[in-house]
Amino acid sequence: MQKRQFLRATAVVVAPLAGLPALAQDNVFKIGLILPMSGQQATTGRQIDAAVRLYMAQNGDTVAGRKVQVILKDDTSLPDVTKRLAQELVVNDKVNVLAGFGITPSAMATAPIATQSKTPMVVMAAATSAITEASPYIVRTSFTLPQASVALADWAPKNGIKKVVSLVSDYGPGIDAEKFFKDRLTFNGGEVVESLRVPLRSPDFAPFLQKVRDLKPDALFVFVPSGAGAAVMKQFLERGMDKAGIKLIGTGDVTDDDQLNDMGDGALGVVTSHHYSAAHPSALNKKFVEAFTKANKGMRPNFMAVGGYDGMRVIYEAAKASKGGTMGGDALLAAMKGQIFESPRGPMFIDAQTRDVVQNIYLRKVEKKDAQLYNIEFDVIKDVKDPGKTK
Ligand code: DHB
Repeated sequence: MQKRQFLRATAVVVAPLAGLPALAQDNVFKIGLILPMSGQQATTGRQIDAAVRLYMAQNGDTVAGRKVQVILKDDTSLPDVTKRLAQELVVNDKVNVLAGFGITPSAMATAPIATQSKTPMVVMAAATSAITEASPYIVRTSFTLPQASVALADWAPKNGIKKVVSLVSDYGPGIDAEKFFKDRLTFNGGEVVESLRVPLRSPDFAPFLQKVRDLKPDALFVFVPSGAGAAVMKQFLERGMDKAGIKLIGTGDVTDDDQLNDMGDGALGVVTSHHYSAAHPSALNKKFVEAFTKANKGMRPNFMAVGGYDGMRVIYEAAKASKGGTMGGDALLAAMKGQIFESPRGPMFIDAQTRDVVQNIYLRKVEKKDAQLYNIEFDVIKDVKDPGKTK
């Protein structure tokens, strides 16, 4: 009896001593944020990094009593690098969650690491439909190309656009955009007469645009990733495509808020469909745009920024609901599923079944407001689920 009491007393004394270093370590909630901070997709990294900082400035750097540490890594948008960085963040830094992922190949390359290590992986940018199916630990706060493309294919034929040529970046999201736009337009009685694909890396749009001119469609439907839109717009206008009666339409990636204001008046009237515009007329968005712009030397937030901002919201709320990540990756993931909230983009929720984002898709037209170019929303399709998953 005496011996047992002694053992118990010893245990009480020993436990906190042994636990001390672990306790300090345990009291940090770590987010491994992998973004393209340099290279062709650097604007995506810059926007998301700024949004993550803003979220923390507004919501504090502790969650569920734990200090939040963001470990930012630059993957230069090379998928092998993304994967290696993710592995290091999981094994060495023991991060609670992986986040970021500027392009689809980077997200795809990292999916097996999330699965093997049971680490929730919040995709804040990449937008190919199939990404969320690559690991049960993936949650997405950006959008999907099928979501954005289908709305435009419903709008086009009702607005005199029947014959279309498509031009997309030749990889996951471009192929999704091409397919879902074409299928829906065809269903609606329109026709895609030619489907053109340009390389993702250092694309030259000129020869493709020449071909489009010769084909004389009612419109050119474009998907290029964030950061490439200005080059498309410039060459489209230089070749006088608009004057030849060809309209430019696309997913909102092409009239990206990061670049739109520098595209010039030639961009006026371009119609796109997307989930976020910096001009979205809600009180919450006005506050978001103001705070973001102020904190970043006048930079306007784009759809990448909102994916990062909402991704942090999903992570913080999940941490709060699961004892700050101390219950492990599965509990953290479970608390991400089904989150529903108002985003600067409008209402959104994380579908518990698919772990993908359900959100409004807006039709927008480039217009001038306060002497600046904006995507002004003129119609909305509410609560759109990723059409890539409704088999
Ligand atoms: C992807 C990247 C982008 O910059 C974008 O605007 C849409 C999709 C992607 O790689 O998934």
